[in-house]
Amino acid sequence: MSANTLGNGFVEVIQDQTIIDICNAQPRDMQGLPIIVPVAVAVETVADGEPDEFKFVLRIGRFGWKAQEASLLNFSANAYLNEMGITSPLQPNENKSSGRDVSQFDEVADPEDEAQPKPNLSTSKPTKPDDFLHPFGEDVEAFARFMRSTKVPPRDFALTELDIFKDIAKAGEEIFSDIKCPVCHTPQYITPPAGTAIIPIWGRNNSTPGIDFGSDDKKGVVPEVLGNKILRPFSDFMLHDIGTGDGIVQTQDAQRPARNAQKFLQQAQQAPEIQRLQQAPAEADRCVVHMVQDLSAQPTSTTAENLEGIKASGARVLDGRTANMIRTAPLWGLRVRPQLLHDGSALTTEEAILRHSVQAKDAKEAFERLSREDKQRLLIFLKSL
Ligand code: HEC
Repeated sequence: MSANTLGNGFVEVIQDQTIIDICNAQPRDMQGLPIIVPVAVAVETVADGEPDEFKFVLRIGRFGWKAQEASLLNFSANAYLNEMGITSPLQPNENKSSGRDVSQFDEVADPEDEAQPKPNLSTSKPTKPDDFLHPFGEDVEAFARFMRSTKVPPRDFALTELDIFKDIAKAGEEIFSDIKCPVCHTPQYITPPAGTAIIPIWGRNNSTPGIDFGSDDKKGVVPEVLGNKILRPFSDFMLHDIGTGDGIVQTQDAQRPARNAQKFLQQAQQAPEIQRLQQAPAEADRCVVHMVQDLSAQPTSTTAENLEGIKASGARVLDGRTANMIRTAPLWGLRVRPQLLHDGSALTTEEAILRHSVQAKDAKEAFERLSREDKQRLLIFLKSL
């Protein structure tokens, strides 16, 4: 199913630490898995007048059913390639069709959405990173700006404002809380005040600017229009196993990280702060994060038993924990989604709730124990989202 993109600019400026804090506060058996992914922030080297390599930071993923993206710009470049077949500086290679090369059917030179140089360059071609006005492709950048400019999905007016309904919807929200749905469906965030520096998990230094969130002059800080806003997405943006998983290990492969993301990820893997986050942590600080691992070797799915053998063979190590996990679906805009769950396999809200098990088993069973009236109240609240 395609996911909602409205309001994602606000989600993009949530600090990584906020998500880690939510993770640390979740009960162990319901804890989410935060995914850390590379985000391209600037051009590193230029070759032949085109951006060649990029600088990256690591952030916690929050977009896509597998939380495989943390940046709307990177997401946009991936969607251009994977959904529309348009290459760009971040994704310069055309996808194959069932493993077969399709270049003979494509007469447009890659990248199709080109980086745009600054006007009035003193040389005829860009030669250094800051010679570009739109280094990631003009269309890809415009599309990211469009997503960042959208409002969040609004609540239903009748169910939240009219006297005959609003008390029922309020009562339904209390039931939602009582049966622990908000452990994963985190109701509310407040974005950091405008001007706040967004701190990535790793990789920010003097030569690497912060992420560009669309403000004209300042990079790496929350723009005026996105600052200090209350948003109610009803998601913790982490992966969970609720028994609906797709069996696909989180690799970011469908997304093909940009050139030299691999080098960056290898360096990140060695960083003590990343290793600490990936290991079994102390009770007080117990969240474990997942990082897309060495992208150079062949994919292999991993279980605890075969891990050492795989490591010794030098093959690529993937994290088998993610195979049956899906990102907590944000519930804003729920009422306009005709089919639910990542594969569209549930046709009603009640059916989607009844499909919850494993980490959400207790919440599902608490739902089943509700009286008919309370179930109705809860469903009316969900209908108001
Ligand atoms: C342990 C975490 C967890 C708990 C607790 C939980 N959910 Fe979910 N919920 C998820 C995940 C993960 C998905 C996405 C599953 C998928 O798409 O396969 C989801 C999906 C949904 C969906 C489908 C939304 C869509 O757009 O497809 C609804 C509705 C929903 N949850 C409601 C609830 C309600 C109501 C409760 C409380 C009874 C609840 N959830 C408790 C994790 C949780």
